[in-house]
Amino acid sequence: MLSSRLAVVLAVCTAATTCVYPANAQSRATLKLDLAAPKTKVSPNLYGLMTEEINYSYDGGLYAEMVRNRTFHSGLEDWFLVEDGNAEASISVDRTTGPSDALPLSLKVTVKRADEHDQAGVLNDGYWGYALKPSTAYKASFYAKGDSAGVGPVSVELVSNDTGKAVASATAPTLSTGWARYDFTLKTGDLQPSANRAANHLVLKVSHPGTVWFSLISVFPPTYHNRENGNRVDLMEKLAAMHPAFLRFPGGNYLEGDHTRERYDWKTTIGPLVDRPTHPSPWGYQSSDGLGLLEFFEWCEDLHMQPLLAVYAGYSMAQEAIEPGPQLAPYVQDALDEIEYATGGTDTKWGAQRSRDGHPAPFHISYVEIGNEDWFDRSGSYEGRYPQFYRAIKAKYPDLQLIATMPVKSMRPDVVDDHFYRRASEFFSDTQHYDKTDRSGPKIFVGEWATREGTPTPNFGAALGDAAWMTGMERNSDIVMMASYAPLLVNVDPGGMQWESDLIGYTADKSYGSPSYYAQVLFNSYLGTEVVKGELTGANPRCFYSATYNAEKGILYLKLVNASSAPQPVSIDLSGVQTVEKTGKLVSLSATDTQETNTLTDPERIVPVEHSLKDIAPTFTQNLPAYSIEVLEIHAR
Ligand code: AHR
Repeated sequence: MLSSRLAVVLAVCTAATTCVYPANAQSRATLKLDLAAPKTKVSPNLYGLMTEEINYSYDGGLYAEMVRNRTFHSGLEDWFLVEDGNAEASISVDRTTGPSDALPLSLKVTVKRADEHDQAGVLNDGYWGYALKPSTAYKASFYAKGDSAGVGPVSVELVSNDTGKAVASATAPTLSTGWARYDFTLKTGDLQPSANRAANHLVLKVSHPGTVWFSLISVFPPTYHNRENGNRVDLMEKLAAMHPAFLRFPGGNYLEGDHTRERYDWKTTIGPLVDRPTHPSPWGYQSSDGLGLLEFFEWCEDLHMQPLLAVYAGYSMAQEAIEPGPQLAPYVQDALDEIEYATGGTDTKWGAQRSRDGHPAPFHISYVEIGNEDWFDRSGSYEGRYPQFYRAIKAKYPDLQLIATMPVKSMRPDVVDDHFYRRASEFFSDTQHYDKTDRSGPKIFVGEWATREGTPTPNFGAALGDAAWMTGMERNSDIVMMASYAPLLVNVDPGGMQWESDLIGYTADKSYGSPSYYAQVLFNSYLGTEVVKGELTGANPRCFYSATYNAEKGILYLKLVNASSAPQPVSIDLSGVQTVEKTGKLVSLSATDTQETNTLTDPERIVPVEHSLKDIAPTFTQNLPAYSIEVLEIHAR
């Protein structure tokens, strides 16, 4: 549909001088671009990702674990008793025994009656199902113990909800009476094609009376780059297509927690999974911390992103602020340890710990953010907290750039993080936001921003708001050095979403990018190294542009946004160049209406469409369709 829409536009506008405009077109605007005029630098880190555990972003999302509530911290949620035939059993959470100090509880399965034919045990329904592929090996494991050898082996099966038949199975040997880990592979064969590939569940059963305790029950599909304890392939591929320069983690509100004790306490998120106690996230569910601190860094490594590490800065959302001074000192030390864990050599205490955790090579960090949205702290303590972190971190790591989450009166932060959650119309009227910002002040990090229109994922109207806003950030990217849309991910199954308008939606078996996602892909895929100054006149008020140039490649990237319901012809006037190649590239993202969107069942309704651009000249006309975002790649020197 999009290609044909684009074809119509091209059919009526094949050459600069012979355009015939649709009847409802607005009068022609002029965009003057002088490539010889002084240019400012485009930040090489302009577009990145912001992430946190929200909307089942990791558990039930990016983190590929398929077993939900694998450590029973949410009681028996997602676990159900299985009694085949005449078998008789009961299940409960046993808070007196677990496989480690970090996991002191377990699932107790008490079997009164069972035999080879009538087995008893438990089933788990996963994160809205288990998505299974044919001929695929799933790595499974659990910690368990039995009350005696008599309880026998444990059968483990992935079972189709439709047929009730096992599609993959394995048997763990007779359990010992002390806690031990059991590993096995569940391999699927030819699976019946099914509209819902996630309509499967996991079953663990025994054939003899007795008592069995389980904890940390885990099933992993193949992961991105085959990482142990790794990430979902489809979601990583979608993120990779955004070419993100950095990853801001671990939050967001998830960093702060509702209470100090629920903060992101990084030391409890590293090492073997059995030593991670899990913790409540402020978004209403328990975080498994399977995607812990090291996994964040490995995620950066996999997608070639700079880590932008946010450290807990002594404020949690229930107005719990730690007083600057001695009381804050342990938290400052935690941040120093965290930076050492990431960047230290193996001769340092925490660098050695990272090595023991499986990553001897240090990671490189340039930016550390001190806290999150500290303007919510009504005590005003950030005035003391930021400087205390700043002094301690700079003393040990003078090259790090330290981001403040709000302006600080007593000192000049290196960078300040601005957040914008808005309607499209608000972004349309504020694309000049940074035009007049004092260039001698701190650099700007737009660490969270989004047009919040459309649920669970943004619609095309939101993509237009985003694109308009991005033209403003791009034009000012000498001062706006980094920007990241938020939130990034949402599980669109019922109950998955806590925050409306999230960039990428998914269920256990499918994922899709919203129109806003494709706007991000476009803006970051076509970006020069210098900002070309220009002047747009005579356009409708919802028409926006950004022009960047890569002198080495001799390519001008011109982004044009028409958020109006009528087409907008734009006469493009290029000066300061000697040659302009006649043929270039046009990539267009458009829709018939602002409410049009992508969904799980119609994931590619709105996607970028590429065309060759003909008859480019120093002056030529581009007719922007109604509701369109266009990138023109023009070769000019
Ligand atoms: O992105 C959702 C939330 O919005 C973040 O956790 C928080 O930083 C902001 O208020």
